[in-house]
Amino acid sequence: MEFNRSIIITGGAGFIGSHVVRLFVNKYPEYRIINVDKLTYAGNLANLKDIEDKPNYTFVKADICDFDAMSALIRDERVSGIIHLAAESHVDRSIKDPFTFARTNVMGTLSLLQAARLYWESLPERYEGKLFYHISTDEVYGALQMTHPDGIEPPFTTTASSGTHHLAYGDSFFLESTPYSPHSPYSAAKASSDHFVRAFHDTYGLPAIVTNCSNNYGPYQFPEKLIPLFINNIRHRKPLPVYGRGENVRDWLFVEDHARAIDVIFHNGKPSETYNIGGFNEWKNIDIVKVLIETVDRALGRAEGEDMDLITYVTDRAGHDLRYAIDSSKLQKELGWEPSLQFEEGIEKTVRWYLDHQEWLDEVTSGEYQKYYENMYSGR
Ligand code: NAD
Ligand code: TYD
Repeated sequence: MEFNRSIIITGGAGFIGSHVVRLFVNKYPEYRIINVDKLTYAGNLANLKDIEDKPNYTFVKADICDFDAMSALIRDERVSGIIHLAAESHVDRSIKDPFTFARTNVMGTLSLLQAARLYWESLPERYEGKLFYHISTDEVYGALQMTHPDGIEPPFTTTASSGTHHLAYGDSFFLESTPYSPHSPYSAAKASSDHFVRAFHDTYGLPAIVTNCSNNYGPYQFPEKLIPLFINNIRHRKPLPVYGRGENVRDWLFVEDHARAIDVIFHNGKPSETYNIGGFNEWKNIDIVKVLIETVDRALGRAEGEDMDLITYVTDRAGHDLRYAIDSSKLQKELGWEPSLQFEEGIEKTVRWYLDHQEWLDEVTSGEYQKYYENMYSGR
């Protein structure tokens, strides 16, 4: 079959990447979708079982840091678009092992940028019809305060410039123009990679887009992150390690809404632009934990709130950012994207998915990962 373009999606075996690969493979049979993934502990081809036999899908096991492999792949497949998600993504791991984060997130991104640039510059049409789309995080902007100019206690209702009314824990939000101020080795490495992408645009004219998204949740997220970890622990009546007092605020978006935003931006976004992606959905960690306990208990037919005593306050994460809150008005106004799911509905769906996929959880929490995990949290 003839395809009208080849697109590389890096990190397609991970959490968000698998949703992006699935969306593109199903929606665009005319595109050849090449999933490039090293299959670290976070990458799992079981996440893509339903599409692995589709004629427009190919998997390539490779390390994005391998410049020769990336160059050969981009050239041989005549790639015209790259959607780059591969990264080390867990803040707690970055605190333990910052080098791996610098290697993959910074050097890996640089290797892809350089490989794409040299190939595209060698073509007669050069950059025409080409795009390097880099997926980043709101964590690069640093931490926001929980304040209101009139001293009103959060949360309070506020209105974004897109006209959206929502509950907020402070009067400031991350905008595309917010200066970078990363605090964790993870966010420092992501910030550095974002700078390289923009530098390649400014220096060589490489068509590039960067998007910064808030915390994602949904199916196929590795159970080291808050929501899947806690759902699994509640099910098995294991302690729920809440960092500090559980007062930190995160802004949550259902992963399929992020994938839809990536689709819209890949096709209609303006090269050289940055777009923030988020659903104006701020939650205190402790409130999410309570919602998770109620939802899991209800789904399992347990007495409501029966598992509240699993909440265990533990030593706070070093450098723990107080509040993230993203203003995605630009994306909503310019490209017409908006989130499709209310949080309550998304959490119901997510809890149901993890309860129905115990096998998937068992597989990814067995063996090597389990050893690492026990080691990481020993002493708490
Ligand atoms: P994830 O950890 O679930 O998946 C990362 C994937 O990248 C895995 O499949 C892994 O095998 C692969 N990978 C890691 N190192 C690699 C390498 N050297 N070469 C090739 N592949 C490699 O991550 P995620 O949560 O799906 O995040 C994906 C991207 O989205 C990341 O860039 C992350 O910074 C960004 N992001 C994540 C969130 C979130 O809430 N999870 C929010 C905003 C942005
Ligand atoms: P996480 O899912 O690791 O995402 P991120 O650090 O990228 O925001 O954590 C979400 C929030 O939950 C964050 O404030 C840290 C907190 N947290 C806990 O309190 N306990 C845990 O075991 C984990 C994994 C996270």
